[in-house]
Amino acid sequence: MIFLLILSLIASFPLKSDAFTDLMRRPIIRHSFTSKVVTTDKQIDQKVSIKPLSSNTVVNYDKKTFRRFAQVELYRTSELEKLFPNLCSLEKACRDISKLMRRIATDSLSGNHQLLGSEQSVNIQGETQKKLDVVANRILKIALCCSGEVSVVASEEEDIPCACSEVTDNGAFSGGEYAVVFDPLDGSSNIDSGLPTGTIFGIYRNPRYGPIDPLTTSKQRGSELLVSGYCLYSASTHLVITMRNGVHMFTLDDVNDEFYLTRSNIQVPSHGPVYSFNDVHESKWHEGVGNFYRDLKSGHLKTFSDPSSDDGAPIKKKKAPRTSRYFGALVADVHNILFHGGIYGYPGTTSSPKGKLRLLYEANPIALLMEQANGMATNGVQRILDLPVKDIHDRTPLFVGSRDEVSSLAQYLQQPQKSLE
Ligand code: AHM
Ligand code: MG
Repeated sequence: MIFLLILSLIASFPLKSDAFTDLMRRPIIRHSFTSKVVTTDKQIDQKVSIKPLSSNTVVNYDKKTFRRFAQVELYRTSELEKLFPNLCSLEKACRDISKLMRRIATDSLSGNHQLLGSEQSVNIQGETQKKLDVVANRILKIALCCSGEVSVVASEEEDIPCACSEVTDNGAFSGGEYAVVFDPLDGSSNIDSGLPTGTIFGIYRNPRYGPIDPLTTSKQRGSELLVSGYCLYSASTHLVITMRNGVHMFTLDDVNDEFYLTRSNIQVPSHGPVYSFNDVHESKWHEGVGNFYRDLKSGHLKTFSDPSSDDGAPIKKKKAPRTSRYFGALVADVHNILFHGGIYGYPGTTSSPKGKLRLLYEANPIALLMEQANGMATNGVQRILDLPVKDIHDRTPLFVGSRDEVSSLAQYLQQPQKSLE
């Protein structure tokens, strides 16, 4: 009897042991949704010889840090290698802004910074700037210009793009190859109530020939973007980026003060339940947008035949589940859609036909990111990335997210409106 008991214990042990070993071997960073498994550091080491970071940089080799990832990815596209210090500065700026966001309420309480709430100035577009907008703007400008590879920074909060030689008051910073555009604190009206905000950024190469003119350099189409992404300041701080190599997400570990890769090759679902619109202006939207929105909400989007063929009324598709989410911060809404699928829309209205969002600082970087995640971004008629930037503060209607929903919206806008009755 005792012998049999010992035998059964021995038989069960390898199973437990295997399961334990398996658990221990799992990568620390888990992946879900449609993300692919992250390439291990070892695999990367085999592909490229990693150059050392600057001598005082400590890298945690157990997990993949943003800097390590950027270094390897940029090395693969040798054309972008010079972007490395620039991306490190961007990452550092995100960490600094994130810390400010975390401390803002308590710092204001103790009278340290007085950043919360009170308004300070009015920007070029007549909008009130919160103090933290101004601080975030300054953090980004200084960090990017001091990276040495950036010669122009263009911010949503400034009336004109700035030459880095002026930002740093040092002519040595005039020769960088890149220009960075950004919205330093998107959704800043969320700050007081502790809701999500973000930073949106895009990186262009300066025209190769001729002197660098900050204005011309900044007015490139979105299709010219080399890199784009955002930092989301929410329950966690996430840095989501594309270097035209897919979309990758890094999460800030507050203890180690490092961004670690938490999802790679993110793909937005081809369709999804989320719709994010502020429908207070619904009565002033284009009729096609209104028709789309009502069908979307009811779960019965229609499909249309080619307008040139004449085979009758539009077909109602099978009912799809829908859910509404609106954070009032583009970064947060897009982030949510990136994982769950659906559509974010900020349409034009009869009084503001181009809507509210800025082409250069918001729509273009988000559009590249969403396309890289296999999603879509249009103004309803044209691909966002193809739109010319006539003025650096141009606005555009924006519809971005899953392919099915965004292309359906475009179809609704193409219909003669009577066909939708
Ligand atoms: P901001 O960059 O000045 O904060 O404005 C942009 C924001 C977007 O993040 C957000 O989606 C939208 O404005 C919200 O606007 P509204 O309050 O009109 O819905
Ligand atoms: Mg914004």
